[in-house]
Amino acid sequence: MKLNKKDSNLRVEILSQALPYIQKFHGKTFVVKYGGSAMTDPVLKLETIKDLVLLSCVGIKVVLVHGGGPEISTMSKRLNLPVKFVDGYRVTNKETMEIVEMVLVGKVQKDLVNLFNVSGAKAIGLCGKDGKLFSAKPIANMKKYGFIGQVQTIDVDILHTLLEKSFIPVVSSVGADHFGQNYNINADDVAGSIAVAMNASKLILMTDTPGILKDSKRPDTLISKMSIKEAEKLIKNKIISGGMIPKTSAAISTLKNGVKAVHIINGGLMHSILLEVFTDTGIGTMILR
Ligand SMILES: Nc1ncnc2c1ncn2[C@@H]1O[C@H](COP(=O)(O)OP(=O)(O)OP(=O)(O)O)[C@@H](O)[C@H]1O
Ligand SMILES: [Mg+2]
Repeated sequence: MKLNKKDSNLRVEILSQALPYIQKFHGKTFVVKYGGSAMTDPVLKLETIKDLVLLSCVGIKVVLVHGGGPEISTMSKRLNLPVKFVDGYRVTNKETMEIVEMVLVGKVQKDLVNLFNVSGAKAIGLCGKDGKLFSAKPIANMKKYGFIGQVQTIDVDILHTLLEKSFIPVVSSVGADHFGQNYNINADDVAGSIAVAMNASKLILMTDTPGILKDSKRPDTLISKMSIKEAEKLIKNKIISGGMIPKTSAAISTLKNGVKAVHIINGGLMHSILLEVFTDTGIGTMILR
């Protein structure tokens, strides 16, 4: 692409703004959750993966956790299985659990690994069972949600081993309990647990909205910065609903367990992660301790 002078100036401006951030974050760990809802455009998806490779090239240790809600729903419908959500969680019966594992681990994750590979990096795909990264237990009400799990134990040894050798880990949110029963875990929960266990500098949740909105239908009502207390209040007042509930809850518990900042950003915006990490202004919603 040939750049005109204005574009070139902008590019140089952004690059020069990035220096203090590169110095600050070199050697630090970022856990990034790439939401399934933000993954629908293949061009954007490749650009997002390239942005993550860039972060890795400037010395940031990137762990990618991915979602895949829309792909699971599409496959379920193709197989005439019910698609139902309660409190933002996918109701997961035995058949749906099989589809969740096949789609997330077998397809979405491997597609992402492939995109890293073609972008000049080396990625390794894992789910909770690989290297015993995490085990699962059911969330409170099995009758209500089915095989929806939460992280029970976590051992990030395998992630450190991979990062030391410059592999980028790509993690699917499927795990098993100690008897081998599979559970579908919300990927935001998995990303939060990994961020805590790795003592990450940041947890970045890439989704399909500009961030947390006061009115979920109006992008101009974005809340740029909020405290844990404010986030809890928004859930209580039902301003936050659907998939934003597990996302915000994961953000809150991640912050309470020691991670300094959680960013919710729009993965549907080209280079949103670079804008968030490397510019003075930032985008999206930042929740702070
Ligand atoms: N106050 C709010 N602000 C912004 N989004 C909200 C709000 N309340 C509810 N939402 C919904 O939350 C959705 C994001 O959660 P969702 O689970 O759908 O995406 P994801 O987590 O990125 O994808 P996946 O679950 O596939 O990984 C938004 O698309 C929006 O419809
Ligand atoms: Mg979600």
